[in-house]
Amino acid sequence: ALVTTTEMFRKAYEGGYAVGAFNVNNMESVQGITEAAGELKSPLILQVSAGARKYAGHIYLLKLVEAALVENDIPIALHLDHGADFAICKSCIDGGFTSVMIDGSRFSLEENIEVTRRVVEYAHSKGTVVEGELGRLAGVEDDVKVNSEDSSYTHPDEVEEFVARTGVDSLAIAIGTSHGAFKFRPGQKPQLRFDILEEVSRRLPGFPIVLHGASSVSQEYVKIIQENGGQLKDAIGIPEDMLRKAARSAVCKINIDSDLRLAMTAGVRAALFAAPSAFDPREYLKAGRADVKTLVKHKITEVLGSAGMA
Ligand code: G3H
Ligand code: 13P
Ligand code: NA
Ligand code: ZN
Repeated sequence: ALVTTTEMFRKAYEGGYAVGAFNVNNMESVQGITEAAGELKSPLILQVSAGARKYAGHIYLLKLVEAALVENDIPIALHLDHGADFAICKSCIDGGFTSVMIDGSRFSLEENIEVTRRVVEYAHSKGTVVEGELGRLAGVEDDVKVNSEDSSYTHPDEVEEFVARTGVDSLAIAIGTSHGAFKFRPGQKPQLRFDILEEVSRRLPGFPIVLHGASSVSQEYVKIIQENGGQLKDAIGIPEDMLRKAARSAVCKINIDSDLRLAMTAGVRAALFAAPSAFDPREYLKAGRADVKTLVKHKITEVLGSAGMA
């Protein structure tokens, strides 16, 4: 059965590693990700956004993940990514997810506390855990575009009150990561505010922290995409050594979506370009799935440190 993240985060906190939270939208990504984690005996979080539910449908995604549980002997949590309001959180809690995020980061502190507290109350009554967010990431969050000027780092002096008054099980913070494949301007030096992370974890001892917008945008995949007819100018992500450092800290969940998209696209583009007359979707989707699996194995062993922890 699906598990919550409670035990995963407790072990990750103590063990100085992080669990990867990978966004899923289709069968090939569910298979690529879960095969990688299964072979490496890593705990795993699969997360579904509102857009993913719209694309594939709630029940298809749930059943795909349940199929992956049959095939792989590892703990898997199924999480709602960026729940915008109480209704979508309730729908996922009632619909079999073991974890939801209520993203009230666009609200005032009081309104964020109010909606988050309401979701926690309902979720906990059903045995589901909740991730909240304080601070605003730069980049593209679903349809809401936040530019870097609008983004604001998490204020460490708000975290104790937020956690105490809402009862959330984990907290996403903004320390300079951002969503999407264009995280820094060309020539800009990638930087994360580790001082804020340290201050947050000092105020919340033992409490699991979440990093969103944590793709690395491997130039290897960008190059393959560009060599096979794609256009991805100035795609830049978070350097892996920064993520490794975060994983050793109170950060217990690291969100990865853009890197999966790049790997899938690189695999599919390369396969189609190599065989212009091929038209069996299994051929090119198989290539995309294989690249997703390779990417996730790399993340687990080289970035997250979660191999063998299942
Ligand atoms: O934070 C956003 C995630 O990458 C999900 O993206 O809303 O396009 O599915 P999406
Ligand atoms: P990336 O766009 O960096 O992969 O971030 C994904 C994310 O935070 C999903 O919630
Ligand atoms: Na950690
Ligand atoms: Zn996110």
